[in-house]
Amino acid sequence: MSKLHALLGATALAAASFAGSAAISQTIGFSQIGSESGWRAAETTLTHQEAEARGIELKFADAQQKQENQIKALRSFIAQGVDAILLAPVVATGWDSVLEEAKEAEIPVVLLDRMVDSSDDLYLTAVGSDLVHEGEVAGEWLVGAVGDEQCNVVELQGTTGSSPAIDRKTGFENAISGHDNISIIRSQTGDFTRTKGKEVMESFLKAEGGGENICALYAHNDDMAVGAIQAIKEAGLQPGEDILVVSIDAVPDIFQAMAAGEANATVELTPNMAGPAFDALDAYLKDGTMPEKFIQTESKLYTQDDDPQAVYEQKKDLGY
Ligand code: AHR
Repeated sequence: MSKLHALLGATALAAASFAGSAAISQTIGFSQIGSESGWRAAETTLTHQEAEARGIELKFADAQQKQENQIKALRSFIAQGVDAILLAPVVATGWDSVLEEAKEAEIPVVLLDRMVDSSDDLYLTAVGSDLVHEGEVAGEWLVGAVGDEQCNVVELQGTTGSSPAIDRKTGFENAISGHDNISIIRSQTGDFTRTKGKEVMESFLKAEGGGENICALYAHNDDMAVGAIQAIKEAGLQPGEDILVVSIDAVPDIFQAMAAGEANATVELTPNMAGPAFDALDAYLKDGTMPEKFIQTESKLYTQDDDPQAVYEQKKDLGY
């Protein structure tokens, strides 16, 4: 019998979808995707810090971008009988079986920053932003920035099959639809990394006769934008002027690029998903309080008008 079972009694337990232990000091497994971006590194750091501040024992597993490693980590957490699991899922599909196993073991799973395609009764809650909305915010910024001018956009997508890559693309396309002067002429994955962002941007520039035909870059994260900015400079063009740059995350490096006039806009994604996740888990593990199914974080737009140097100074020591 679990500790929560003892606390709530059989009737209350039957009403709850999951059960865990109501320990004051919890053990929580965290299956992280890897360290592909500055944002991801910050999320990892802040999750460790939040856990430490709350007296939570965090079992951390870095999946090195592989779903199979995440599934193994989840099975290992289940075997160890952790109180709960945090999962930042690398891709959206393929989670049903392992999430069923966690549910059978009465271990609540909280999704961090990315979504899964599984039925929502297989996880307790998800903490993240509205990923479609993020893409819309980026697209709306571009619509406003170019006005009636013709604008050919190149797009650097995130990891193929991941919910932010799918949704940020959809959101951006929603925003530019109906604006016939704006079109996406090239779109390819840059895997959310700086290196791949640079490499793919180089190929876009080459394919577009050196880049004069490109009006704007939309990158699904700042790291790819930073890599692409380097490629644009090496091609002899001025990023932020010859090619507008809009991306997502709001990591310190993009604010440096904005302060230098080399990037134009970014949409903020908070890396502190763990705070709301631990709050929800704490309430659930203590007395079975069910959280909202989706705990939404803010998506704030920053432009060059927002004193990027000052924002960089504020952010640079925050775990990035
Ligand atoms: O899932 C969130 C995305 O993953 C971030 O925008 C990106 O930087 C990270 O790799």
